[in-house]
Amino acid sequence: MKRSMLQLGIVTLVVSSATAAFLPTTEAFNVRAPQLKTQTFLSPPFFLRPGGVVNKWYYDVDFPRGHVALKSFNGEVVDDAGAPVPLHETYLHHWLVAPYYVYGQSMIPITNSGPCKDSLGQHFGLGSETRQTATWVPDPYAIEIGKPAPAGYDERWFINVHAIDTRGAPDKLACAECRCDFYNVTVDEAGSRIGNGYVGGLHCCYDSTRCRVDGAFANNGEPPRKLFLRYTVSWLDWSDAVHVPVRIYILDVTDTALFDGNPNPYCKVEYRVDECSSEDRAKNNCVDMKTTEEMVSHGGDLVYAVAHLHRGGLGSSLHGQDGRLLCKSMPIYGTGQEAGNEEGYIVGMSTCYPEPGTVKVSHGEVLTMVSNYSSERQHTGVMGHFYILVADQQEQALNKPALCFSFPYSWCVPAWMWSNQM
Ligand SMILES: *[C@@H]1O[C@H](CO)[C@@H](O)[C@H](O)[C@H]1NC(C)=O
Ligand SMILES: *[C@@H]1O[C@H](CO)[C@@H](O)[C@H](O)[C@H]1NC(C)=O
Repeated sequence: MKRSMLQLGIVTLVVSSATAAFLPTTEAFNVRAPQLKTQTFLSPPFFLRPGGVVNKWYYDVDFPRGHVALKSFNGEVVDDAGAPVPLHETYLHHWLVAPYYVYGQSMIPITNSGPCKDSLGQHFGLGSETRQTATWVPDPYAIEIGKPAPAGYDERWFINVHAIDTRGAPDKLACAECRCDFYNVTVDEAGSRIGNGYVGGLHCCYDSTRCRVDGAFANNGEPPRKLFLRYTVSWLDWSDAVHVPVRIYILDVTDTALFDGNPNPYCKVEYRVDECSSEDRAKNNCVDMKTTEEMVSHGGDLVYAVAHLHRGGLGSSLHGQDGRLLCKSMPIYGTGQEAGNEEGYIVGMSTCYPEPGTVKVSHGEVLTMVSNYSSERQHTGVMGHFYILVADQQEQALNKPALCFSFPYSWCVPAWMWSNQM
């Protein structure tokens, strides 16, 4: 029903804009949405030798300015000539991007709305899956940025890039999973001793550490490779009449605060998957399933969802309090050698785009997330996150001329054409 009305609206619009060419008085029918803009930027360069690690934070990076509706963000590692670098050479552990306010030496982070905003506060962030994961925010929704800053403050953006050069590594997976024995580190970045039980993860592959590589690569005498994060942002000028803002929630399967009855979320970001027992192996049951509960503070329409998994990941799902499936996000493994399709690596994650208005979460609803990994072998430093966009429940949504499209080009169906029929 809804759909056919929409199609009717489109047909009517086409007719009326054709008429508009001859009748200037009908120009008001042709309500045009702001124009979609897309721009590609480069991060500052970073330098890697075989085995090397960078975990850099770049402040005040190039980014759209002003009051804008963010629609998508994609990134990848490229070399000095602009060529995409495959994951088996430079493993992109993660990149993340977020705005902050700055005034002299004072800095205030602008985080998302999720329970993990202290550790996973970013607006966008992905890892090896970045080249084949859709980040498009469906119309009429958008991430609203550039709202008025506190007096004296300016809004800026930072990017964090964590990359590992695995050229010449005898065990590329061990380097990518930050196995402590391969990095030969005994203290973490802050200088604290790494506990015996911690066999791998972010505490062992911080900036400037080095993973084990074969002798010929270790001292090959070549200068370090110069690399960049190349990122592409799509956005429109913000319009209250066209855009509906969304809240970003990042949920982490390691946050067990609700299970534990603890009022404060504790998002550990990463965890370890142990190798399955021989009994499980005999039963062909080497799947590590981890679940937790996370709360969303504000209810509304779920408009986009995607999970983040590392290599070994089998799939992830998100469920409402009554058990209904909100999203299932599955990894795409590469099958070749070229950038974007590297064999054995997660090169993309499937995403969920529920039809607008059909999937809702309520205020304070407790969601259950499931994160599955293969436990055929041990995996360290793995992640199980869900990134979701939720549009607040709002009365005025009905009055909005919300039938606007910015893809492949921008235009809107005027509200009067369809609102009285739905
Ligand atoms: C590991 O680190 C120790 C102490 O820093 C050093 O003596 C040893 O040579 C290192 N081993 C390797 C294989 O790099
Ligand atoms: C996770 O694993 C469990 C147990 O094998 C399975 O029932 C479930 O369907 C899996 N979920 C996803 C999203 O892969």
